[in-house]
Amino acid sequence: MTPASVLDYREAARRRLPRVLFDYIDGGSYAEETLAANVADIQKLRLRQRVLKDVSRLSTEVELFGQTLSMPVVLSPVGLSGMYARRGEAQAARAAKAAGVPFTLSTVGVCTAREVADAAGAPPWFQLYMTRDRGFMAETLARVAEVGCPVLVFTVDLAVPGTRYRDVRNGMVATTPAQRFSQAMDGLLHPAWLWDVHISGRPHTLGTVASASKDLKRLVEFWTWIGRNFDASITWDDIGWVREHWKGPIVIKGVLDVADAREAAAIGVEGLVVSNHGGRQLDGASSSIQALPGIADAVGDRLTVLMDGGVRSGLDVLKALASGARACLVGRAWAWSLGARGEAGVAHMLQIVRQELRVAMALTGCADIKSVGPDLLAE
Ligand SMILES: Cc1cc2nc3c(=O)[nH]c(=O)nc-3n(C[C@H](O)[C@H](O)[C@H](O)COP(=O)(O)O)c2cc1C
Repeated sequence: MTPASVLDYREAARRRLPRVLFDYIDGGSYAEETLAANVADIQKLRLRQRVLKDVSRLSTEVELFGQTLSMPVVLSPVGLSGMYARRGEAQAARAAKAAGVPFTLSTVGVCTAREVADAAGAPPWFQLYMTRDRGFMAETLARVAEVGCPVLVFTVDLAVPGTRYRDVRNGMVATTPAQRFSQAMDGLLHPAWLWDVHISGRPHTLGTVASASKDLKRLVEFWTWIGRNFDASITWDDIGWVREHWKGPIVIKGVLDVADAREAAAIGVEGLVVSNHGGRQLDGASSSIQALPGIADAVGDRLTVLMDGGVRSGLDVLKALASGARACLVGRAWAWSLGARGEAGVAHMLQIVRQELRVAMALTGCADIKSVGPDLLAE
């Protein structure tokens, strides 16, 4: 079957990936209420159908942090992507580059920024998680600056990790022999993945984190190291430290409250992402689309407001822009398509989203993405 939509790629990923990996991508924290709300609240918005406007020439281009994007979409940082397809981050970054949109490399990606930049012919945006070892942080920032990463996305909504019940049940971080056996069986039941990733996609390390300690060998050791070294003590004061070590634009990811958005604007970062980590952290928090208009109103004139969470189509992108975002990040959409078909899947998914966005623009009478505003939404 030819996937026609992002959700078709979700089903294709379900078939190709071991269950533990599919659930890791697909799941949210606790009862998954915020995850569901991210999607449902976008669906509830209604677009105004407008007619007899000249939409024969459409422009989906936007400028973000000095870059021209072919459409207002960025690939969000997604950890462990090199486990969904062989050298997954490199493959997805190639697809993003060809489509004219940025790819963001997670701190907990399998590939390094250098590998991604070399594969794609363009350096990725880089996402930072703060660990207690500031020496390692400073080295990491210097290294990704050397690679030429233009934008730093600093994720702040993971002071402590939320629990995802699916990962607990599946033994995501397999520690017991029974869990390891069950994961081996899971892998054997998915031979295409087994060959592509498990056998041909090595080394399975976290590229960026590897320099932190020579003792880290297996993925589970990396994961444990990250868990132990996460810095839950960081505050707005630490943005100053990041600024000292990073000369380019800083985007704070994981803001859901107007008070925090005002702090970000006052501190002078260049952008923020209205996000609840795709419903993977505080379950019961607002959906991103619900939080977006208030934040855009409060600080949109002072910094670039982006959003992510629940974006599953080009129509959703238009709704997010009409609600105040300059661009959307997409997480699961690209993780599923990468897991299903590698680079070709991500390239096709981006093509689908672009076409949906263009149709949505034409049928709402909006020829230029720069002119999108709240008037596109029905009351
Ligand atoms: C499997 C998975 C791994 C993720 N890993 C990271 C990460 O390493 N760093 C980060 O800032 N956000 C991470 N996120 C959150 C995404 O960047 C993004 O905020 C979220 O996926 C957006 O929601 P969506 O999946 O509904 O598009 C992850 C999300 C998923 C689904």
